[in-house]
Amino acid sequence: MKKIGLLTSGGDSPGMNTCIRAVVRTAVGKGISVVGIRRGYVGMINGDMYDMDARSVGGILQRGGTILGTARSDEFMPKKGQREAIRQLNESSIDGLVVIGGDGSLKGAQALHEQGIKVVGVPASIDNDIWGTNMSIGVDTALNTIQDAVDKLRDTASSHHRAFVVETMGRDCDYLALMGGVTSGAEIVVAPGKDIEISEIASEIEDAYIRGKNHCIIMVAEGAKLKVHEISQKLKEIDVGFHTRVTVLGHTQRGGRPSAFDRIIASRFGIKAVEALLEGESGIMVGLKGRDIEYVSLKEVAKRKRKTSAEFKQMARMLAI
Ligand code: F6P
Repeated sequence: MKKIGLLTSGGDSPGMNTCIRAVVRTAVGKGISVVGIRRGYVGMINGDMYDMDARSVGGILQRGGTILGTARSDEFMPKKGQREAIRQLNESSIDGLVVIGGDGSLKGAQALHEQGIKVVGVPASIDNDIWGTNMSIGVDTALNTIQDAVDKLRDTASSHHRAFVVETMGRDCDYLALMGGVTSGAEIVVAPGKDIEISEIASEIEDAYIRGKNHCIIMVAEGAKLKVHEISQKLKEIDVGFHTRVTVLGHTQRGGRPSAFDRIIASRFGIKAVEALLEGESGIMVGLKGRDIEYVSLKEVAKRKRKTSAEFKQMARMLAI
């Protein structure tokens, strides 16, 4: 292996830059060239690539986002796009690839592996829905962002005796809402796939009011069936005691300086990804299992979705009495 290509793809997540730095410096330290591919599979199809060295990743460890840029590429999905991408990799004499991204990006990596490209995936997504790893890069920082925001909301909520309906990210997944609910002491969490009636939310909130609480947090995942404004409106109509306000945390959860935890896993994943390519591995992702970094088959990653442990599902509610 003489030259590896490196890309970030899909939704960005804090710690991607830390991982880019780790990949580049590990490879360069082992005498391997690195080519950065801009904007994920979009740049691969268009041959938008540049040579990277140890200095080109200086000062990025602590920066959110990704210096390589990222994109969600529809063009790469069909065989035609993948053929173009492979042609570009061959033209640039790239012998191996590190793909840093979420589930869609890792499916793309598996597709390239099936067509003979040597590829190793690194899980990065604030959603924490990637199978085969306890944590993905960016999750911890996103949770800290949620925690900070809700701590602030609670200050004003308790001053005004209000209930805040807070939307976290997670189009199809519940991790940020559930864990954000635990870390910020929400009274109730509304997550996708967990059908809950508005009447149940209302009686829970009214109950909290009667118990003498001076504020309430209702954490709602972006992908939940009930939407934040609808919940707020209905709570107003029903009159649960508290006045309500809505806060959508949105893309603030995707940005910011990576936490220490994210910097550590991003660095470990980056080093391990390069080592895996050098060991001749392909079609695998590096994942965190317990304290160790292990190899997981990309085929499995592409087929399955990480589920949030049932233990966390009732936790916020249990502790909100
Ligand atoms: O990266 C994952 C994620 O942040 C999801 O939680 C969210 O639903 C989605 O990306 C938003 O994507 P976009 O930034 O493309 O609107």
